[in-house]
Amino acid sequence: MDPDPRTQHELTRAVLERVQATPDPRLRELMSSLVRHLHAFALEVGLREEEWLAGIEFLTETGRTCTPTRQEFILLSDTLGLSSLVDDLGHPAGDGATESTILGPFYVPGAPFRENGASIAAPDLDGEPLLVTGEVATTAGRPIAGAVVDVWQTAPNGLYDVQDDSQPEFHLRGRFRTDDAGRYGFRTVRPVSYPIPADGPVGRLLTATGRHPWRAAHIHVIVSAPGHHPLTTTIFDAEDPYIDSDAVFGVKRSRRRVLRRSPDGGLLLEERIRLRPETPDSTT
Ligand code: BEZ
Ligand code: FE
Repeated sequence: MDPDPRTQHELTRAVLERVQATPDPRLRELMSSLVRHLHAFALEVGLREEEWLAGIEFLTETGRTCTPTRQEFILLSDTLGLSSLVDDLGHPAGDGATESTILGPFYVPGAPFRENGASIAAPDLDGEPLLVTGEVATTAGRPIAGAVVDVWQTAPNGLYDVQDDSQPEFHLRGRFRTDDAGRYGFRTVRPVSYPIPADGPVGRLLTATGRHPWRAAHIHVIVSAPGHHPLTTTIFDAEDPYIDSDAVFGVKRSRRRVLRRSPDGGLLLEERIRLRPETPDSTT
């Protein structure tokens, strides 16, 4: 027997000491904490060699699954709740601004500008008609004219245009500019719940851990206006069956909406957006 076996505590301390040489202070902080938590994890579960190797193989496959249009590592981060946690840390709630949510992988920049009131859905698309109207204003309630409201959602088959060759380019996407009263509006169809891509390693991990891949029905929104912090958020259908078990933990209570029935049988949604000014002085 080794007369002076290295204790696990000493091993962790040796790695942490080595990391102290990192010149950049933030990288040093990140690496030190990562090492501490990784070692603590392995110690807590008594990580076996074959389990460690299975983890390495899983991460390798996750990397191999990535393509220019598929980011399996972000999907992994999403399903572990890390993306939402980082979003929360970067956009603390509580100052009256609309709460942000994760962007997701299906945003496409450069959607066409459309007139307020226009439809983002193809005329022959099945689905319940939905009219979304709203106002963009500052956290102090002052309407913002000329703000850009960029929206995207899936078709009733649960697929975004970029996942589905049968949909035209920029289908169910559009940019709208608020009028002088800060108002915008567009027509669409009721969003549906849909599964995140589950045919790769992340999907297999969900299955192995007894989880489903469904996202609660939603419409994504990015709102930008000069002098204000841009906002990435989501409008969720409060009555969706997955509202409390969204696969990527993206549903914030403040972002749920009950769709109202209009006299003509369609659905209505009024969505007020509050943007955080870049300087406190511009709130009035
Ligand atoms: C989405 O809402 O588009 C999405 C978000 C995270 C993972 C997959 C899809
Ligand atoms: Fe989505």
